[in-house]
Amino acid sequence: MLKLGLTPPVPLIVPSILSADFARLADDVAKVEEGGAQMLHVDVMDGHFVPNITLGPPVVRSLRKVTALPLDVHLMIADPDRYAPLFIDAGADQVSVHYEAATHLDRTLHLIKSRGCRAGVVLNPSTPVSVLEDVLDVVDFVLIMSVNPGFEGQKFIPNSLRKIRQLDALRFERHLEFSIEIDGGVSSANVVEIVEAGCNWLVAGSAIFHSENPAATTAGMQTLARGVRSVRV
Ligand code: DX5
Ligand code: ZN
Repeated sequence: MLKLGLTPPVPLIVPSILSADFARLADDVAKVEEGGAQMLHVDVMDGHFVPNITLGPPVVRSLRKVTALPLDVHLMIADPDRYAPLFIDAGADQVSVHYEAATHLDRTLHLIKSRGCRAGVVLNPSTPVSVLEDVLDVVDFVLIMSVNPGFEGQKFIPNSLRKIRQLDALRFERHLEFSIEIDGGVSSANVVEIVEAGCNWLVAGSAIFHSENPAATTAGMQTLARGVRSVRV
């Protein structure tokens, strides 16, 4: 059962536009808004840090014009200090950087926050939660990758649930309020166990945008997430 810390986490399903039709982004965004989405996940890949290339600041700027939803920009890029400000200027509400790509992580997180943006750190599946000990009081959120980053439609790595539980326990013990996000292989089949582990934001790409009805799928997953019983211990 979910343990609550200082603030009861509100689980949100966060559609990832990586699986949308890039020629019809505004239409696809409207569909998940209709399904009750309250945040959008935007995957930025540079062909260096990950073996794929997606989009840059102009797309974020265009998205900003067609939706009022917060934009959650996930930077899978080398040299995040250089590029994070460009995405913030384009309209990102929160930006996450990979632990594995940030040489001076503390500086990068403060740089993002100093520009009025929420700052997150991301861990690859092979990176343990323990490396975050000294930044947990700086971050606004931690993103646990439940696939190796780079592509949509991959299989969920179950060890991610253990990492979510570890983070949730640390959050509780240290009286911190960062959010916990998961990304990769999320679908209606695993929403409940992910929320039970202590996750607040569940990113889902292919499960939503490759479904028959993205609005209904978003709403259905959101209902499953909200239905998880929580208890204060
Ligand atoms: C993967 C991306 C994810 C991707 C998830 O590297 O960071 O955000 O969109 O896609 P699914 O939900 O299909 O695994
Ligand atoms: Zn992502």
